[in-house]
Amino acid sequence: MIEQSFAGRVAVVTGGASGIGEACCRMLAARGARVVVTDRDAARAEALARAIGAAAMALDVATQAANEACAAAVEAEIGPVDILVTSAGVLQRPLRAEELPEQVVEEVVRIDQIGTWNSAVAFGRRMALRGRGAIVTIGSIAGIRSMPLHAYSPAKAAVIEMTRCLAAEWGRSGVRVNAVSPGFTRTPALQRAIEAGERDAALLEGTSALGEMVTPEDIAEAVCFLCSDSARAITGVNLPVDAGWLVAGSWATYGGLPGPRGNAP
Ligand SMILES: NC(=O)c1ccc[n+]([C@@H]2O[C@H](COP(=O)([O-])OP(=O)(O)OC[C@H]3O[C@@H](n4cnc5c(N)ncnc54)[C@H](O)[C@@H]3O)[C@@H](O)[C@H]2O)c1
Repeated sequence: MIEQSFAGRVAVVTGGASGIGEACCRMLAARGARVVVTDRDAARAEALARAIGAAAMALDVATQAANEACAAAVEAEIGPVDILVTSAGVLQRPLRAEELPEQVVEEVVRIDQIGTWNSAVAFGRRMALRGRGAIVTIGSIAGIRSMPLHAYSPAKAAVIEMTRCLAAEWGRSGVRVNAVSPGFTRTPALQRAIEAGERDAALLEGTSALGEMVTPEDIAEAVCFLCSDSARAITGVNLPVDAGWLVAGSWATYGGLPGPRGNAP
């Protein structure tokens, strides 16, 4: 493994109390960052922060005012923010387009798309003024391929595109902005969807090239890489971490993926 140190850096994670955000908090803290766990679930954020020696702050990303207040408070109480990971988000129940309630579309777009924008701008504007910083947004394979998720897929496509726009916006100000797009990742949110019968675990595993789901730690590794100095020349990319789901899908037209050669496990 590559030695990575975030010693002396302040890292803020939105939606940090669970799943992918939690894995990012744990990994960044283990590698020396001063982590601020933010989440709309303040109690869970507090509990995780205590467990990993981090700070916690309540933040519902849905409004610009809350993100601005949080960014100002973190910088006043803890210090200038070097790293932002925007993991706050909600998944969506697959529904026919005609049956998708408008309030579901509004909620998903408000949190996943506008919430990401709100956090990126509140923290990014401060990074840009200082001339340094790294932001990693959490997109999704659903933002790259169509799925029966008529609110979530377009919202995640917007996250990926806003990442590119912000990378160009702040490049000369020393702020790098990249996205990680997870495939199906074993988090509490996906587990709940599987248990509710909204996703089929065997299909989620079986449709990827590697034949497995992704772990939150797999995503955190990619996030840490993009935040680190090893990625100093990388900005505006979208890195899928999906166990090869994106490359495998089109093979169904040709009869599906071949089985393992030899004695591969
Ligand atoms: N799990 C997957 O398969 C998967 C795949 C692709 C992308 N993603 C994305 O990864 C991110 C994290 O998802 P997860 O699976 O870890 O879910 P999760 O539910 O385990 O964690 C999400 C966290 O975000 C918080 N949150 C939700 N709305 C918020 C808001 N308005 N303000 C602040 N915090 C809020 C929740 O309280 C929770 O702690 C999401 O953006 C999701 O869309 C997940």
